[in-house]
Amino acid sequence: MSETLERWGSKRAFILAVTGAAVGLGNIWRFPYIAGENGGAAFLLVYVAFVLLLGIPVMMAEILIGRAGRRGPMGSLGALAAEAGASRHWRWLGLFGALTVFCILSFYSVVSGWSIEFLVASVNGQFNGATAAEVGAGFETFLANPGLQVFNHTLFLLMTMSVVAAGVAKGLERLNNLLMPLLYLLLILLAVYAATTEGFGTALKWLFWPSFSAITLDVVVHAMGHAFFTLAVGACALMAYGAYMPDDQSLPRAAVTVAVLDISVALLSGIAIFSVVFAQGMDPAEGPGLMFVTLPIAFAELPWGAFWLGVFFLLLLLATWTSAINLAEPMVATLQDMGLGRVRATSLVGLGVWLLGLLSAFSFSTLEDFRPLLGRNVFELVSSIPPDIFLPLGGVLTAIFAAWVMPRATAHKALGAGDRGFALWQGVVRWVAIPLTFVVLLSAFI
Ligand code: PHE
Ligand code: NA
Repeated sequence: MSETLERWGSKRAFILAVTGAAVGLGNIWRFPYIAGENGGAAFLLVYVAFVLLLGIPVMMAEILIGRAGRRGPMGSLGALAAEAGASRHWRWLGLFGALTVFCILSFYSVVSGWSIEFLVASVNGQFNGATAAEVGAGFETFLANPGLQVFNHTLFLLMTMSVVAAGVAKGLERLNNLLMPLLYLLLILLAVYAATTEGFGTALKWLFWPSFSAITLDVVVHAMGHAFFTLAVGACALMAYGAYMPDDQSLPRAAVTVAVLDISVALLSGIAIFSVVFAQGMDPAEGPGLMFVTLPIAFAELPWGAFWLGVFFLLLLLATWTSAINLAEPMVATLQDMGLGRVRATSLVGLGVWLLGLLSAFSFSTLEDFRPLLGRNVFELVSSIPPDIFLPLGGVLTAIFAAWVMPRATAHKALGAGDRGFALWQGVVRWVAIPLTFVVLLSAFI
């Protein structure tokens, strides 16, 4: 395996690609529902702190490794370890990342399938004049229908894997270029609408006014996991994108830009969703259905509501699609490193993800009571353990590799931030990000 000479077409293209990976279900679906289950403002505060202290520095570490190695994750880690005279076993971190995204993609695809269903339902006008109770009941019925769950999951995975098989992930930056501004526009429109509802004041207070006693160990563990998840950090997925990063681009600036875009999408959707929650007297801790039940109600009140709802689900679907493509990439790259052809590797990954995803798809019906671990069913397990435990674990190992193992000069050059920038990044990673992640991970186990 030799270094790739391929590069993203421009600096902007790289930022768009990473934003495409970052902005997805994590911002619009997962953030509101996890925040809702973890006390709102208490969660938001800790999550933003973790994005700044861990997420951004570790994201830089991850991209930096890819940029210095110019290979797939396992290849880059192996080559850089050899250069540093360190153990070649570091390359297994790439495999661990691939296993993590394997689990994540299995439930991600099922939930993205819900967006397909809701897109079709809104185009068909099924939400016209529906009350909160009706939308909620409709969602429950849909969840409990195993056939529909499998159908949408399959459709989404086919959509994703065909792009991956064609190897055109890099062509998607143009899609992101169009998608991101539209998504913003629509979320801003929603947030403005939210400001006119009775629930707005309560929602703001609930999201932004933390009571410090609400910051429990559970909240901290979930906030850390979500900080990694939302930035797409900790699974070597961004490492793969870093391999094509232009030489003259500032990595810190790119990472901060992506994090700011990512957080603002989450905040806008949080404001919109919780305004509806409080205006309708719903429970913020409603769970995974939160977004799917609240947003149809919000749009129903807008002029041209059905149209905007359709547009929204279309944009959401495209945003999750670009994230899912990034989730699949490290697995396919890993199999390719093992000598498989692109199409065969993609088919194998797709089949595996599809099979594991079936267990999630059935977790709301036939397999609801199949609870192999911790009293959780498969959907609850794969949507919590890989984001909350595997991503931070992968992230901390990535950080150790970049800040302690890699030769200083190589890391310095790949960060591209000058002497002071490098010293600051290295200091934060070594003395803040790594110890903090370890402490939270250890306390999660105890
Ligand atoms: N960041 C994506 C989201 O918020 C999820 C993701 C996680 C993508 C890990 C790639 C790798 O939806
Ligand atoms: Na995200």
